[in-house]
Order: sequence, then C-alpha cells, then structure tokens
Amino acid sequence: MGIKYYENERIFKLDGKDTTYLIAVVDDEKFVGHIYYGSKIEDFQIDHLLRLKEAPFVPTENNRDRLAFYDSFPWEYPTRGIGDFREDCLAIETKEGHWALKLTYQSHKISHGKQAPQGLPGVFGDEKNASVLELICEDAQTGFEVTLIYTIFEDSDAIIRSTKIFNKAKESVYLTKALSACIDMDNAEYDLITLHGSWARERHIQRRSVGYGSQGVFSVRGESGHQDHPFLCLAESDANQDHGAVYGMNLIYSGNFTAQVHQNQFESIRMTMGIHPDGFRYLLEPGEFFQTPEVVIVYSDEGIGKMSREFHDLYRNHLIRSSYKDKKRPILINNWEATYFNFDTDKLLAIAKEASSLGIEMLVMDDGWFGNRSSDNCALGDWDVNEEKIKGGLSYLVEEVNKLGMKFGIWFEPEMISPDSNLYRKHPDWAIAIPGKTPGLARNQLVLDFSRKEVVDYVYGKMETILKSANIEYVKWDMNRPLSDIGSAYLPSERQGELYHRYVLGVYELQERLIKQFPELLLENCSGGGARFDPGMLYYSPQIWCSDDTDAIERLSIQEGTAIVYPLSTIGAHVSDCPNHTVGRITPFETRGYVALAGTFGYELDVTKIPREDRELIPAQVEMYHKYNDLIRMGDYYRIASYRENHYFDCWQVVSKDKKEALLTYIQVLNLANSRSRIIKLKGLDPNQYYKVDGMEHILSGNALMCAGICMDKLWGDFRGSLISIQAV
Ligand code: GLA
Repeated sequence: MGIKYYENERIFKLDGKDTTYLIAVVDDEKFVGHIYYGSKIEDFQIDHLLRLKEAPFVPTENNRDRLAFYDSFPWEYPTRGIGDFREDCLAIETKEGHWALKLTYQSHKISHGKQAPQGLPGVFGDEKNASVLELICEDAQTGFEVTLIYTIFEDSDAIIRSTKIFNKAKESVYLTKALSACIDMDNAEYDLITLHGSWARERHIQRRSVGYGSQGVFSVRGESGHQDHPFLCLAESDANQDHGAVYGMNLIYSGNFTAQVHQNQFESIRMTMGIHPDGFRYLLEPGEFFQTPEVVIVYSDEGIGKMSREFHDLYRNHLIRSSYKDKKRPILINNWEATYFNFDTDKLLAIAKEASSLGIEMLVMDDGWFGNRSSDNCALGDWDVNEEKIKGGLSYLVEEVNKLGMKFGIWFEPEMISPDSNLYRKHPDWAIAIPGKTPGLARNQLVLDFSRKEVVDYVYGKMETILKSANIEYVKWDMNRPLSDIGSAYLPSERQGELYHRYVLGVYELQERLIKQFPELLLENCSGGGARFDPGMLYYSPQIWCSDDTDAIERLSIQEGTAIVYPLSTIGAHVSDCPNHTVGRITPFETRGYVALAGTFGYELDVTKIPREDRELIPAQVEMYHKYNDLIRMGDYYRIASYRENHYFDCWQVVSKDKKEALLTYIQVLNLANSRSRIIKLKGLDPNQYYKVDGMEHILSGNALMCAGICMDKLWGDFRGSLISIQAV
C-alpha cells in the first residue's frame, strides 16, 4: 500500500486497495509518462510498456522522431503546442501571444494525510489512510511550474488527481486551459459510458463503442447541468455489472466541464477531464497559482458494479462531511407539488398536522414564502418573509410545526435575482450581464454575480437572518437557470474570463459559511431537479434533489444512472401524487414508495387531499423506511437488471457491509403475457452464509442464492413492485 519512489529506475508506484498506478520519469528529457493503471501488481519495472525505442517514424534526434514521439508518448499531463496532437490539458497565452509549454520533472514530495484544496471541494483522509504524491514539473522557457497531485487511500481503489499551476515567470500570463487530469492507454476495444438527459430526465445511461477522434461530454452552462454529466467511464466492450475492466472518472466541480475520450492514429486512447476551456481565461500574475478541481479516477477489474461501489464508498468516507452523513435523515414532506405557490400558514399547518399523525418527521416549505413571490416571475433576492402568506411570521409557523413533533425546513434560491425584485431595483449591476446587451432570461430570472464578495456577503446575511429567526433544521438550496451573457460589472476587463470559475468559488464559499455557521443544518442541494448533482455539491450537502420528475417509472432510469456514481444515501427521492405532475402516469402508491426508498425518502404531495387508500399506506411506508434505511444508506449497491435494457423490469439489491442483511427491490414495469415467474440471481452475499429469504420456505446458502437464484412472485399488472428482505441465519 502507499506510494513508493524507485530512485534508480525513476518510477513512482501508487498502490490502492486492489490497484496499482505507475508513473515514469523518462530518460534525459525527464518527461513524466504514464506506464500503467489497473489491477494490483507487485512489480514496478514494466516501463517497457512505454515503448520508448519504438518510434513510429524514422528515428532522428535522440533516436526518436520528435513529433511522432510526442504524439504517441503516454503523457501524465499533456500540454499544448509541442506536437502532441491529441486533446491536451494545459495551455497559456503569453504577452507575445504564444501558448506552448513543455513540462519536465524537477522534484517530488510524498506526504500523508489529505485535505480538500483551499476554496474548493475535495476528498480528505487522515495520515494513516491517505498518501499524496506531488510531482513538480517546469517549463524551462517560461518558468511555469506545474505540480501534478495524486492521492490514494488504503481503503479505496480511487486515485484523486489535480494540478496546481504557478506562474514563476516575471510577467503576467493568461491560463487558457487547465484540465485536472489525463489518462493515456492503449485501446483495448473500449465502450464509453456517459450520462445524459434534460430537465426531469437526468443522467440516463448511454453506452457506445469508442471510435477515432474525440468523443465525450461537456457543459458550458456554468453548472454541471441536466444535459451531460461530469462523468466518463471506459469499459471493455464485453464488460458488464460483474466482469471486465472498467475505468471511471468524475469531476469534483459544479461549473463548466469537459470530459473527453480521444483515440488517435496509434490506437492510443486518452481520457481527459477538467474545467471547460471555453470562456476560461485566467490571469496569473507573477507568483500567483491556479488550482484545478480534483478528478476521481476509479479502476475496477470486476465490472461496472465494483466501480460504482468504489465511488460510493469514497464519497461516503472521504468527501461528504455533513453531520447527517452517517445518520438517518428525517422523513420530510415538501409542499412544492402539493401547493406550488398557493399556500399560507394555515395550509402548511394542515399538511403538517396530517403528516405528523402518519409518522412524517419534517415539513419543508418550498418556493413562495418571501417578498411578493406569488409566481416564478418575481422577488428572487428579496429574502424577507411574506407575512401575508406566512401569517403570524416564520417563528410562529415553525413553533407550531415543532409542537407537532416535526422539524421544519425551508427553500432558498440564493444565487438568483428577479428583474422584478427590490434587490434588482437597488443593485441592477449585481446581475451577471454584458453592459449594453439585454441579458437572456430563463424562468424570468437572472444570476447574481457571485464573483463579487459584497453579493455573497449580502445573500449570506439574508440567509443567516432567516435561519436564526426560527428553529430551521433543513435548507433546500435551489438553482434554476444556467449562466449566460457572461459579464461582470465588478471584474476588470482582463479578468472577465475568470467569471465562470469565480462564480462557482462564490457558491462554494457561501455554502461553506452556511454549514460552518449551522453545523447541524441538513443541506439539500437542488438545481431545477438534478442539474447540479455532482461531487462538488456533496462536499457541502449529504444529499441532492435528484430530479423534478417524481414519477416512479421515470425515476428508475434516472436513479439507475445516478447510482452508477453516487451512493443511494445522496439521492433525493420522494413519493408524489398521481397522475404524476410531469408525465401524467398513474402508478401504485406502494411502487412509488419502493423507488423513493432507494434514496433519501420523503413525500411531495398534499397529504390532506390524496386518496384515503394512499394515505393509509403511509404509516407502513414510514415503518419500511425506518427498517431499511440504515442498510440502504450504508450498504453495498448491486444492480441486477435494468428496465432500460430489458424493457420489462428493474431490479437492484443492497447488501450490508457484513453481508448479514440484504434487500432486493424488484419493479415490474410492464407485465408480459403468458410468462413464467422470473428467476433472479442475488449478488454480493457471503457464499458460505445461510440466509432466510422473505416468502421462501427453505433456508439457503449465499452460494445457492447467487448461483441458482430465487423465483419472483408473479405480479398482476404494470408498474407493480416487491421488496424482498434477505437475512443471515
Ligand atoms: C425547482 C426545484 C423544485 C422546486 C421549484 C420551486 O424546479 O427543483 O423542486 O423547488 O424549483 O420553484
């Protein structure tokens, strides 16, 4: 385990739990090359893989044709302009107008213990668990110093990478591209797995084979976005949930990103990830540095399933900080789909009263409680309680809710400003816009310029006042439009290209202040549903609203795609009313409960209005949540079948770490005529342990349950589900 440097051979060996990563400093040139990342190996002298003497063209200087060499060498961090014609990671713009950098190794540091980078979200670990390698490189001509940072954990197969770029030159220089990491390898018939969607249709899985050229995902929306996700997975073409080599990459960042796979003429394949270079132009004065966000890279030799479990464990153990991280979250009821903007104290108390009698534990007051907000046309930024709606004031409402034995939570959209708001009338220049150009509206709102300290301070002050005015134990932090018309009235012209990134830093700063000041607060991030469901946000909030689509069937694909990277404990999921408000589908109340159970679990409906038969099912659902949430929150997730692939049913399982308990969820989306009961082979059990399976007469070994399987009860109708508990005996 740990990080070793073999000085004579100039090889760095990074050993994770089951993986090895090897880096070489090459010959006299001292280029930093990537030798290997894969299953754990004892040896380190496998630098023959670099094929340094094997020039694709006629050898010349140094026995190498320079350009062919740069174009085929597996760089740890490729730079622009020197002849590596693939996707690069780093480019600058000097006063003379040049952009090339050639990095050579100078020195290194190995240390133990790890914290997140200053001002950014990131992984952390103590001295016993986390080891960090810093490779300090320089470009001799400009004096730029670039430190490649690698972290590994004893208990993980993830490698975390980032880069720190120092301007050690005498002149100021623009950074025009600064990605976080790159992995070069040979193409072994890989498929590319990415996550795509739209509002209310986030993170649907797409799998395609990798071809020549660049392919990948990106966002230039100022947030990670509904449409593409900062995640890439390369899987051997025959890899599945349980078999095959798989590489996953996920960016710990919440703004613009690019994530690309590039296959070139020599069948070399390169994965790159980091901040999108479009709209990025960062001025570095002499002595200043830029820290890129961290990328998490996971290798699994046991298919996609193991990769997912590695991401889940890393995020639960080394990224999420909230005091709720290891705790059951209160079952909440949110009034958004219940009332939209049409509510007042009486309405909220009526919902709370009924909800508390059924076992629901927290009332969340969503959008519409402030300023003159009666629709989404106005008032964002005016964070003062509207006492015409909230009669008696916020503290009265919260006290009444608390008297019912319930907690109270509140919605904010801190980053936004409505043109029709007192805030905008007072500070029109606080909105992001290009002077002289009318900015585009989305949901009738503009985005606040969070690169500006006074703006962040103002919003923080308003939030703090509200949060201190009553016993508020939860905040839903929303963000309902992408950034456009990029211009800051505050930044000087030479720093306009920093706005996208500085905006994200402002968001992080505000969230950091909030959770430092209110450490017991349960924060749930949200962005028009799941447009900012990313690991950056998980550093501040242990859960994120996964999608505005609460339909149980639509949620199957959304939650399957989300869980490929993120633990179930982070996935905001609620039972809502039918016909579903997004797709009009009618599903059984039980099924809605099973699907929401594979997330944080809560309700999003008017409990005083739903059919009595549904309401009567709530106490049993509450009991189900309390019975299984520890397992779901902390256990290992196994995907068994995907409705997305088979068009009939969905099935997943969660197994406790000690393998004594498991829960299988089976959702029959469509019934199939004249069919037999389905056999499901369980996963992740202890083969030598005996288990009692719900509804089965015989006690069976884990081995039998995994190799032979169980028969599912036949379910009559569509959208039906069942939950099967498996207990060690
Ligand atoms: C977004 C959120 C919803 C709700 C509304 C309120 O769409 O995703 O859950 O909070 O905003 O305006």
